[in-house]
Amino acid sequence: MAINKFSIIVATFVFAEAVEAAEWRVASGEKIQDAITKSSPGDTIFIEPGIYHENLVVDKANLKLSGVVKTGQWPILDGKGTLNDGIIASGSGFTVEWLHIRNYKANGVTTQAADNVIMRHLIVEKTGIYGIYPTLGRNVVVEDNVTFGIADAGIYIGMCQHTDVRRNEAYDNVAGIEAENSHDVLIENNYVYRNTSGILAFTLPELPKKSSGNIIIRNNLIANNNIMNFGAKGSIVASVPPGSGVIVLAADDVVFENNTIRDNSLAGIIVAHHGAIPHMAKDPEVEPNPDRVKILNNLFVNNGRKSFSDLVIWGRYLVKQVISTGIPEGADEGVVPRGGDVVGTKAGTGLCIKNPDGLKLRDTEHFSKCDDGDASGSMSTMLVAQDKLPEVKSDNLGEQTYAAICAGCHAMNYQLIGPPVKEIQAKYKGNPEGIVNFARAPVKVRSGFPQMPPQAYLGDEKLRAVAAHILLKK
Ligand code: HEC
Repeated sequence: MAINKFSIIVATFVFAEAVEAAEWRVASGEKIQDAITKSSPGDTIFIEPGIYHENLVVDKANLKLSGVVKTGQWPILDGKGTLNDGIIASGSGFTVEWLHIRNYKANGVTTQAADNVIMRHLIVEKTGIYGIYPTLGRNVVVEDNVTFGIADAGIYIGMCQHTDVRRNEAYDNVAGIEAENSHDVLIENNYVYRNTSGILAFTLPELPKKSSGNIIIRNNLIANNNIMNFGAKGSIVASVPPGSGVIVLAADDVVFENNTIRDNSLAGIIVAHHGAIPHMAKDPEVEPNPDRVKILNNLFVNNGRKSFSDLVIWGRYLVKQVISTGIPEGADEGVVPRGGDVVGTKAGTGLCIKNPDGLKLRDTEHFSKCDDGDASGSMSTMLVAQDKLPEVKSDNLGEQTYAAICAGCHAMNYQLIGPPVKEIQAKYKGNPEGIVNFARAPVKVRSGFPQMPPQAYLGDEKLRAVAAHILLKK
């Protein structure tokens, strides 16, 4: 009797599983998007090895895209240099793993205002803007990925909260890993080398989120980030100086612990305020100084020393900078700035270095010596229990769409990637439908800018709402 009862329970359970979460399989020659269309929330889509030329859009909750790697053969998403994004996902609970994503004009994989996201075991290669790009999400895991050849950031955490970025490898990008206007970010056990700059913790003005904080940068190898800056002309990332291991720009409560930081030709860590960047937009809601940045026990080796080829790269960077934005701070003491292990920019409070004596320092007179109680050790992860994530309700569709999508590339008064909103407002005054039409199917307008990726997947309701929001934005 007991056994029978038990088997009934098991049978019911299996049956329920089968109804709630189906599995789909996509083979080479088939379309992954067809499986996404047929699938229901909670399903898993397995992708067999092969080359897929697709731009995937996932708008369902709890979907999992899982590549099947067989005897070293990966499923490859290839944009051939003509498609825009590899994967755009807006459903929460999205997982993507075991895919090789390459040659897209915009992003490799991006999630837009999705919570509980996992992106892992991905190879992301040669994309025009970001490689792995969660934006406006909470509870995000980015782990065990390789990103290289990305013209902005290999891994870009944009306006997220509770994010773990761990065990990734990022090289040959302009920025290896970037956390921007994000809170509660753990960047741990990553291997970040041969980028223009290894890790960026930035607070930028004029974005929907106004601050960054509680960022732990721990146990990473940050080495040899000395390559030429190949960011799109005029964009913010194009002004990142080559040779910088880490740059903290106006972010607060950043802890560095147990990193190995070596052979970065300008500086191991730069702690900067907005004033250090020429013509930085001023946002009254954004506090422009880096505060409470704590540099605890780390191993610094040979930072701030330029070889001949570093000098050539520096010279080219400087010429480009002076032409596009003006003379950067620090250049007043000579064309080649004095570098070091830690470089400050004379602004910020509560900054400290634990072992300053052995380090090569510049402009760090306002740093004190850290207390013993400052360690990040007790913190293992930034993620919170899923049932503790409060639901976010937005009653303004236009504002929400702008924050989740357009703000990744547009700011009010300066060129983030696309032109400033001010310029769009002037051009499309009284013509919201013009914005809708452009965003649905952008054409090339400005020379020197990348082409804007089409946003038709958003649908007309969201596009109209966002166009109205943009025209009213202050
Ligand atoms: C991945 C980056 C990116 C995202 C995301 C993005 N844009 Fe753009 N946008 C650009 C770039 C780059 C240009 C400049 C293109 C050019 O001049 O050829 C641009 C230009 C524009 C223009 C100016 C067109 C013109 O006629 O001059 C409008 C309007 C616009 N974007 C609206 C939007 C809206 C609305 C959204 C959100 C739904 C959005 N953009 C999201 C990158 C982006």
